[in-house]
Amino acid sequence: MNHTFPSFPKDCHSLLCRYLTPEIFDALKDKKTSNGYTLHQAINSGVQNPDSSIGVYAGDAESYTLFAPLFDPIIEAYHGFCRSDTHHSHFNPDDLKAPNPDTSGDYIVSTRIRVGRNIADVPLGPAISKEQRNAVESQVSQALESLEGALRGTYYPLQGMSSADKAQLVSDHFLFKAGDRFLEAAGLNRDWPEGRGIFHNEDKTFLVWINEEDQLRIISMQSGGDIKAVFTRLFHAVSAIEKSVTFSHSKHLGYITSCPTNLGTAMRASVHIKLPKLGQNKERFEAIAKAHHVQIRGIHGEHSESEGGIYDISNRRRLGVSEVQCVQDMYDGVVALIAAEQSL
Ligand code: ADP
Ligand code: ARG
Repeated sequence: MNHTFPSFPKDCHSLLCRYLTPEIFDALKDKKTSNGYTLHQAINSGVQNPDSSIGVYAGDAESYTLFAPLFDPIIEAYHGFCRSDTHHSHFNPDDLKAPNPDTSGDYIVSTRIRVGRNIADVPLGPAISKEQRNAVESQVSQALESLEGALRGTYYPLQGMSSADKAQLVSDHFLFKAGDRFLEAAGLNRDWPEGRGIFHNEDKTFLVWINEEDQLRIISMQSGGDIKAVFTRLFHAVSAIEKSVTFSHSKHLGYITSCPTNLGTAMRASVHIKLPKLGQNKERFEAIAKAHHVQIRGIHGEHSESEGGIYDISNRRRLGVSEVQCVQDMYDGVVALIAAEQSL
């Protein structure tokens, strides 16, 4: 354990550097969860990467209570969700009011909705052992390979996959990239690529990443802007997997994930959308995004740049809002962004 208060550069804007005071550091620095996860591990990613926006990862559900003096203000700053709040789920596709906002197909290239999940009573990725991770891989891949109908598919372990196949899956937006420096410093890339892989159905409209940032990332995606179809498929997929796998969940924080930004619904609903004119008017673009609680990303995943005026627009809040509301946030933001693009 490193007992010295970390130093952050002057221009550091992470929530870690905002909320880690010497008092909180001293109060937590010798604590360990029952899985042996320490404050040093929880903050290492943000210490090694001062350009982090958040900077912390949990090693298990207990991290959120043991290190609450640090995690609580970070959770409140990101989600607007307080210690006394309770998270409520509402994951019913019938209640989503999201008719295709772009029936002409001029703007929306594709729609994707994912949720993160982790297995109950197993440490999260930053604290998991190699044996536990491999056991998660076999349990989850077996559960997935027993799915039927439109969800039927095959599991492809990363180990043994050709470099060409990997590169193709990444560039087609289906597979996670290797070597993320934020995950690296959080201990999430240990033993790479063992225990990691991707399951997908034949059309690649239903996919599951195993043992990346979370043990499962359950994904529904397709071309175009039929958001309701994507949400409905995800709902059926999650319900089917839940029949044989129990996920880590708390009444207060909803689904438990390794990064506090994903707690609650663990849902990120996104479109890849062509907004070339708004892209030239960053101030207006960002103001609309902020007003509608949506986040702007590049099209090759987080921390990537836009290409050809196409952006990834997704809901920002995931905790203290329901699944239906997450998608509604994205939908309302997309409708406003299309209107602004048309007006330019
Ligand atoms: P996550 O969704 O798990 O937070 P990323 O932002 O890193 O992670 O995105 C993961 C992958 O999903 C990337 O390849 C990204 O391009 C792809 N992706 C995200 N949204 C869409 C979308 N609406 N259509 C197609 N691909 C998408
Ligand atoms: N740890 C990174 C940061 O603080 C990513 C945070 C949110 N994204 C995520 N994939 N969990 O910037």
